[in-house]
Amino acid sequence: MRNLIEVRHLVTAYGANIIHNDISFDVRKNEVFGILGGSGSGKSTLLNNLIMLQTPKSGSIKIFGSDVGRLSLLERNAIAKRCGVLFQFGALFSNLTVLENVGLMLEEYSCYPKSVITEISKMWLERVGLSKKAYNLHPYELSGGMKKRVGLARAMVLDPEILFLDEPTSGLDPLSAGKFDDLILEIKESNGFSVVLITHDLDTIHDIVDRFILLKGAKIEFQGSLKEFSAHSNKKGIDRDNLFNCTRGERFWKDA
Ligand SMILES: Nc1ncnc2c1ncn2[C@@H]1O[C@H](COP(=O)(O)OP(=O)(O)OP(=O)(O)O)[C@@H](O)[C@H]1O
Ligand SMILES: [Mg+2]
Repeated sequence: MRNLIEVRHLVTAYGANIIHNDISFDVRKNEVFGILGGSGSGKSTLLNNLIMLQTPKSGSIKIFGSDVGRLSLLERNAIAKRCGVLFQFGALFSNLTVLENVGLMLEEYSCYPKSVITEISKMWLERVGLSKKAYNLHPYELSGGMKKRVGLARAMVLDPEILFLDEPTSGLDPLSAGKFDDLILEIKESNGFSVVLITHDLDTIHDIVDRFILLKGAKIEFQGSLKEFSAHSNKKGIDRDNLFNCTRGERFWKDA
């Protein structure tokens, strides 16, 4: 299967507010696929539709070849088990420790005994660079970078085939953001999965994204690789220098 996700003629809305108006794109196996766009352009809403937390107004989303709109709850759960998600604001449970937060997905979806769940959780916390000292901390005791790492560990425990990341480097200093990108690439290399990545970060796009869509005005303004985007922006007279000279974390596409 070449395409892991196929989105066709997707329309999403909050009441009368149309967020995506007839958008179509594919996510291919093994790629890092970017979702870009200005604040409020509908990136997180698109993610929520892809991970089946929201239902589109019309159009279809196929994941692993199945049209998710036609599946039973049981079948959707089976697909959800094959996907890992790092949410924009971490979505860690404030009353649970780091170790408990990471183990949560396994408690929910696996039949492993508690001891195995703890071991897998510890293994993933180590993989994402968190020491034993972090195990019993609560989310309010963590730095922004640590929260992202805990979120990544939680997203990885079920060994996903698709990893969804919503703004994984936002709020991190440039060094930490670069390290986080390296970490994503490193575990992608070793575990072999595809990534759907929402980002504002130009360096991330340069360093790890293979192809991307750029959302604007409820439509896809552009889809393709960064190289193709250069040709596109030339044609459309977009000031690329201005666009690409921004530093990490800046909202660089504002004028795109
Ligand atoms: N639950 C909701 N109910 C009503 N409107 C919503 C809801 N969630 C988002 N919206 C609106 O939908 C639009 C898209 O929001 P979304 O969060 O998807 O944007 P985004 O591209 O992820 O933005 P950001 O870069 O700031 O994270 C915004 O105008 C937002 O106000
Ligand atoms: Mg968002």
